[in-house]
Amino acid sequence: MQKHWKTRLIHTDARIPEGFRGLNVAVHRASTTLFSDAAAVTDQWDVHEVGYSYGLYGTPTVQELAARICELEGGHRTLITPGGQSAISLVQLAFLKAGDHVLMPESVYGPNRSFAHRVLRKFGVEITFYDPLIGAGIESLIRPITKLIWCESPGSITMEVQDVPAIAAVAHAHHALVVLDNTWSAGVLFDAFAHGVDITMQALTKYVGGHSDLLLGSITVKDPKLWEQVGATQQVVGLAVSPDDCSLALRGLKTMAVRLQAIEQSARQIADWLGGRPEVERVLHPALESCPGHQFWGRDFSGSAGVFSIVFRQEFTKEQVHAFVNSLELFEIGYSWGGVTSLAVAYDFAGWTSRPGYGHRIVRLNIGLEDTADLIADLGNALATVAASI
Ligand SMILES: Cc1ncc(COP(=O)(O)O)c(C=O)c1O
Repeated sequence: MQKHWKTRLIHTDARIPEGFRGLNVAVHRASTTLFSDAAAVTDQWDVHEVGYSYGLYGTPTVQELAARICELEGGHRTLITPGGQSAISLVQLAFLKAGDHVLMPESVYGPNRSFAHRVLRKFGVEITFYDPLIGAGIESLIRPITKLIWCESPGSITMEVQDVPAIAAVAHAHHALVVLDNTWSAGVLFDAFAHGVDITMQALTKYVGGHSDLLLGSITVKDPKLWEQVGATQQVVGLAVSPDDCSLALRGLKTMAVRLQAIEQSARQIADWLGGRPEVERVLHPALESCPGHQFWGRDFSGSAGVFSIVFRQEFTKEQVHAFVNSLELFEIGYSWGGVTSLAVAYDFAGWTSRPGYGHRIVRLNIGLEDTADLIADLGNALATVAASI
């Protein structure tokens, strides 16, 4: 038909050469997804079953990232979410209902704990927090209504490595599902499904993104029945993700192996060095014996990441711990981790009876890609500054 130029702005007959091939996944941005005819219209969410139906369920860019994460983790399917925390809340919403009971480690990521307190309790789900080192002893906490056992290994900040296979064996004997926050291992340093986990989630924000410039999460399931439950819940919760962010994450994946390797080497060297410092009481790095659950890291993991914590000796005041963090020049102060910049954050567990007695003396470090000797020099200078003030 003859078209006015205004119409041509929308419906063009312009053609470009075909056959382009590049190395990167194209960024497909879309809310509307086109159907071939009226009868083909569907609002079903599973693009693997019905084809692309709506932007909410993922354009090819989002699906590519999902497929890559799924392949790396060896799962059945992966769903991408707008961040790690939304992956956490979506798992809870998908698998828990009023009257169910969930077990969570005391060392669980803080906002996950808050979601349990603020949202799950409100909807009638019972929660029990357990010692992350409980292992098979978790059996004593399982009730007939226990639906889900959450694991996070190593735990947030206090870094306890869990005996996930022992927990999974007990959970399955009682028909409970095991979920693992597998962010620290970037989904590759710990083979969750081979160790009995049913559902994994990751904050792709960390090592997959790798450059502190995006937020994304993933949920991967082992079993097709679990996939139905996650996907159908995502549809109604409406957690849409940005294809632009997914394309950055896909780029991050390409360099993740070399980043992880360099970061692992540097972090271990720094952790060893810190372990020999008189100011430091304990280094909570899973690859060191001083880390609770180190034996499970040695047995189950194929490597270590760059996030670990140090605990200062008893005499260190909160002001001195803060002065240490503030004296660092290369380590920046900020949340999140897994990027190329080293970070330091002081935490305070004073008043917590359910966490180890590190009080205000704990600092979490994220090791980035700066030169290791420079980072050690920076830490050494900061320690000297604080030691001089004692
Ligand atoms: C272990 C762990 N899980 C989940 C999250 C949440 O990820 P996001 O920041 O992408 O929401 C974080 C973030 O720090 C984390 O450390």
